[in-house]
Amino acid sequence: MSESTIPYKIYLEESEMPKYWYNLRADMQKKPAPLLNPATHRPMTAAELSGVFCDELVKQELDNDTRFYPIPEEILGFYKMYRPSPLVRAYCLEEKLKTPAKIYYKFEGNNTSGSHKLNSAVAQAYYAKMQGLKGVTTETGAGQWGTALSMACSYFGLDCKVYMVKVSYEQKPFRREVMKVYGASVTPSPSDTTAVGRKILQEHPGTTGSLGCAISEAVETAVSNPGYRYVLGSVLNQVLLHQSVIGVEAKIAMDKYGIRPDVIIGCAGGGSNLGGLIAPFMGEKLRGEADYRIVAVEPASCPSLTRGVYAYDFCDTGAVCPLAKMYTLGSDFIPAPNHAGGLRYHGMSPILSELYDQGMMEAVSVPQTSVFEAAEAFAHPLRPHGHGLLRPGGLREVPQRPDGRLRAHGRGIGPVRGEAAADLS
Ligand SMILES: Cc1ncc(COP(=O)(O)O)c(C=O)c1O
Repeated sequence: MSESTIPYKIYLEESEMPKYWYNLRADMQKKPAPLLNPATHRPMTAAELSGVFCDELVKQELDNDTRFYPIPEEILGFYKMYRPSPLVRAYCLEEKLKTPAKIYYKFEGNNTSGSHKLNSAVAQAYYAKMQGLKGVTTETGAGQWGTALSMACSYFGLDCKVYMVKVSYEQKPFRREVMKVYGASVTPSPSDTTAVGRKILQEHPGTTGSLGCAISEAVETAVSNPGYRYVLGSVLNQVLLHQSVIGVEAKIAMDKYGIRPDVIIGCAGGGSNLGGLIAPFMGEKLRGEADYRIVAVEPASCPSLTRGVYAYDFCDTGAVCPLAKMYTLGSDFIPAPNHAGGLRYHGMSPILSELYDQGMMEAVSVPQTSVFEAAEAFAHPLRPHGHGLLRPGGLREVPQRPDGRLRAHGRGIGPVRGEAAADLS
């Protein structure tokens, strides 16, 4: 397709939306390592996991083989409130950067909660409702996962208890208020409402918290309240499965216009948006049908892929969760209280960790200041600088690769600069 026919925004029809989630694990010859029971060090069984997660989500978590999961009708109906999301050609940015690269981004901020997190939140809330549960508990960093889950729970009439990393609770008051508008309870973590929170507070008085702490509190609350289960917004296999809707949809749009990306870039906190975006492309790469350069961009303040070790570690700080084999900075790692928000998780999705270990993708880490500059340049595409934004794919430095893709998501409710920067870091 000629250059002039590619619109600024590619909007698919509702009828063109993906009808299935794609399970990348089915195409991985070497599968991600299983979650281990911390007491026995044996793989977690479905029965053990079902005390924590909804039954259907346990099935999805453990399923390394089913390639396609049909998206239930009710979830598809919910998705139609904001999907298909646009694939945007960043013409102005390309011009200002004077780059030969063609830059696209998949904009997932076009829903009321403001980010891609809703894709999995609605799925997890749906399965909780189908199981007849009263409610769910969760953690949130920047607050976007918590907002998405609160919205999904209010839709299905479920109670929602959110533990929000204390520093973000204080930095982002608008976020926590939005969650409350949806009827969720929001507790700054670590808190004195759980045994694990009290222990962390005793050992680290004055701590600003971490996602690992908030996960421990949310899990404890779920298992000690009948009719509740814990849900997680990132890292887990089931979350990447739901988020594959982003990549499958992006690929449908690109195929429709004959666009083939060379470089695919995403920010990586626990890996959900990146894992979702790359899923079908990585699938082609694993099957030897195509090759793509795939780059994870993580905050320099929490560089799990670039500075961590690939080892079994607790998913949470309080060591109440199973062990996952992942790139990790250590489950007791407390990042600096900066604006990396939801990217501040000590580990990385086991699927992405395994792919990174196999050399199927790259990773870079970027300091907050460059991210702010890049986010500002992105927000004001007429301004003539933006090296931070370029840095992930080095788009200006790779003229031999004419197609580049850049993913941005979340539109931030509240302190927009901070959140946009976090999203792009
Ligand atoms: C908008 C947004 N993007 C990215 C992230 C990072 O998480 P993940 O790596 O799971 O996409 C978060 C985390 O909360 C987020 O809210």
